[in-house]
Amino acid sequence: MRIVAGSAKGTRLAAVPSGTRPLADRAREGLFSSLGGVVAGARVLDLYAGTGAVGIEALSRGAVEAVFVDEAPAAVRAVGENLRRARLVDRGTVLRRAVPQALRSDIGPFDLVFLDPPYAIDPADVEAVLSEIAAHGLCAPGALVILTRERKNPTPVIPLHWALDRRLSYGGAVVLVFRTYEANAQGRPGGVMGRTALCPGTFDPVTNGHLDIVRRASAVFDTLVVAVLENPAKAPLFSVQERVEMLREAVAGIPNVEVAHFRGLLVDFARARGAPAIVKGLRAVTDFDYELQMAQMNHHMSGIETLFMPTNPQWSYLSSSLVKEISRFGGDVDGFVPGFVAARLRERLVSEG
Ligand code: PNS
Repeated sequence: MRIVAGSAKGTRLAAVPSGTRPLADRAREGLFSSLGGVVAGARVLDLYAGTGAVGIEALSRGAVEAVFVDEAPAAVRAVGENLRRARLVDRGTVLRRAVPQALRSDIGPFDLVFLDPPYAIDPADVEAVLSEIAAHGLCAPGALVILTRERKNPTPVIPLHWALDRRLSYGGAVVLVFRTYEANAQGRPGGVMGRTALCPGTFDPVTNGHLDIVRRASAVFDTLVVAVLENPAKAPLFSVQERVEMLREAVAGIPNVEVAHFRGLLVDFARARGAPAIVKGLRAVTDFDYELQMAQMNHHMSGIETLFMPTNPQWSYLSSSLVKEISRFGGDVDGFVPGFVAARLRERLVSEG
């Protein structure tokens, strides 16, 4: 058995402790390529760790930490040895504990939880472990729980707030990938209520079309963060501070809306804010191709969902670029942006000459 990819690629793993049944290299490779970008930066829990191959594969591919749980002394030794071979000792913690007991300890939250229990385990015990994982707050918002079972085992009943995201087959094994959702403050299961969503954009400057989406999205989510892209490669008309200032003024009356700015990848900002969803307005089908591509890429990288909200038809032909162009040639943009934004546009474009 070898580590398939990443910093420890090719590391040969120590012999498998007797009684464990590690996922074959090929299956591990398939599973990790299906998980894609969610592994980098993730906190990982590897239950029934055996050799630790799965958690070490995750570390090798950029996971920030992994906690390995196994009650067999031989497995604990094997994981320790394998972490040393992979030069990943500083990012791994090995707990010699029975899984149910480990789940009640003060660990987590995790972004990825792998469990590969012995095939002989009673299906009811697997279900009990899944509900313990759900009950003990071990999962960060949107975390994935990845269960390996023998094909002939029944599919377990899954906790209320989870959904089956993917089912992968490798010979006699099936790998079930569950996505977890938190209950909201009222104890209602997942869904969009009770959550933070991001409404990202360049907002150069904010228009009434943007504000229509922000208002309506703020009625659906508990908190909406308007996320302004600070893109050093572009030369916007307004600096990021100015764009944030105008947005803050425009949303001042909506108590659950915040305005923030970010650099780099939107999914990293969403993770940092604990936001499992992005809301985007769609003006017309012309927006759709690119928005769909971004939504799918963001989901692939992080599991973050994008929800599209149709723009009010009143604003379907409105864009920040058109507003700037009209303003630049002396046209009236008062109906398209808040009054103070129109004034700022006039000021800026006059001073630009
Ligand atoms: O208002 P815009 O210009 O249509 O907004 C586009 C924005 C900011 C949402 C998009 O460009 C973005 O998310 N940029 C951040 C960089 C990023 O994550 N790129 C990968 C997208 S799949």
